[in-house]
Amino acid sequence: MHTPIEGFSKLTKAEKIDWLSENCTTDAEKTKQLLKRYWNANSSVQKIHDEFIENTVSNYYLPFAIAPNFLINNALYAIPMAIEESSVVAAASKAAKFWLDKGGFKTTVLGTEKVGQVHFMYTGNKKKLLQFFETIKASFFEDTKAITQNMKKRGGGIKDLELRDKTDKLANYYQLHCTFETLDAMGANFINSCLEQFSKTLQKEADVYFDFSADEKQLEVVMSILSNYVPNCIVKAEVSCKIKELDEDELSGQKFAEKMLQAIDIAKAETYRAVTHNKGIMNGIDAVVLATGNDFRAVEAGIHAYASKTGEYSSLTHAEIKDGVFRFWIEIPLALGTVGGLTSLHPLVKLSLEILQKPNAEELMQIVAVAGLAQNFAALRSLVTTGIQKGHMKMHLLNMLNQLGATEQEKQQLVAHFKDNAVTNASVKEALEKIQTH
Ligand code: MEV
Repeated sequence: MHTPIEGFSKLTKAEKIDWLSENCTTDAEKTKQLLKRYWNANSSVQKIHDEFIENTVSNYYLPFAIAPNFLINNALYAIPMAIEESSVVAAASKAAKFWLDKGGFKTTVLGTEKVGQVHFMYTGNKKKLLQFFETIKASFFEDTKAITQNMKKRGGGIKDLELRDKTDKLANYYQLHCTFETLDAMGANFINSCLEQFSKTLQKEADVYFDFSADEKQLEVVMSILSNYVPNCIVKAEVSCKIKELDEDELSGQKFAEKMLQAIDIAKAETYRAVTHNKGIMNGIDAVVLATGNDFRAVEAGIHAYASKTGEYSSLTHAEIKDGVFRFWIEIPLALGTVGGLTSLHPLVKLSLEILQKPNAEELMQIVAVAGLAQNFAALRSLVTTGIQKGHMKMHLLNMLNQLGATEQEKQQLVAHFKDNAVTNASVKEALEKIQTH
């Protein structure tokens, strides 16, 4: 174990690497070489990456891939995905192709409202607090004018402020529950700046309005922060086709559609399955969110909360069979941006947005929802028919061979060999050893 270090952030990048290599790894020279190997050869590109976060010592690569052939509202998209898990891009591409000649994906944005809150404690008379709020409400808008003027010019800004009594949940707890329209920005900075001003206004006006010294009643702000739960920033994506169009050699369209419905009903009936079902959806969603420079942690947190909105964690996708038609859809909250943040800084994020034909935030919401729906369709389609391991282990084969240090020629030979043989850790190791000893 190394000793604590003071002022690590103040060291130069080279000094940080020296300290790290010498104190936290067994082979300092190898560590230094590895970290440097992952630097971008172009120093100005590297500088951009260095400055995204603090204490950067290298870059952490993820594969950047394309899932083509997504027909969304009659327009074709090739969707960029950044993800480490094998099979996800293949599954997305397969689902895209499947729906390409069946009308593709249809999407609708149902709302774009973002949320932020000022949390505060108040120990006085509730009626008086409500009167106070109504009296000073206009000041919240007035005092944030400098922050909101640009957003307002473009048609966004603060939508509303509401005083919420939360004392049934926690003694003395109230909130300013605030809603925003942030247009093509995810809006975190805008919202948090507004909220911090709201909290100052609240405290300042309260000190004037209430006679705290006389009756010893207090109003105290605890914190101000946006919420990543955005149940009114919602997008819906769906696919549908005649049951007949789902017919395949081994399985009738009717049977396949019924099994898909059962798979969704199971995810609606119990949490263990719902979590994995939704994890598969997030494979698609996170990969596009990451490729487009958005905050996948915020998206994850918000979507999982939405999946629990009835009090029980449930499936994010739904399906029905009606009048001979199979319909499959997703409805999720997504707070995304196509301006601000990494969008104009990270070269591959810029490229992702270009590949997606420079979408605005609403268009990106629709593309991301489609990626989630496609992923779930592909996963369920495998699960209710062949199972996922067949395809998955084939994709995993290259990872295993890379891990075992196979050469390009060995890889080619073994990919051919495993076309007709079961892929397992043991069988891959054995087959590689066999060709290496010949
Ligand atoms: C694996 O990453 C995702 C799946 O487990 C999703 C699912 O079970 O629906 C295949």
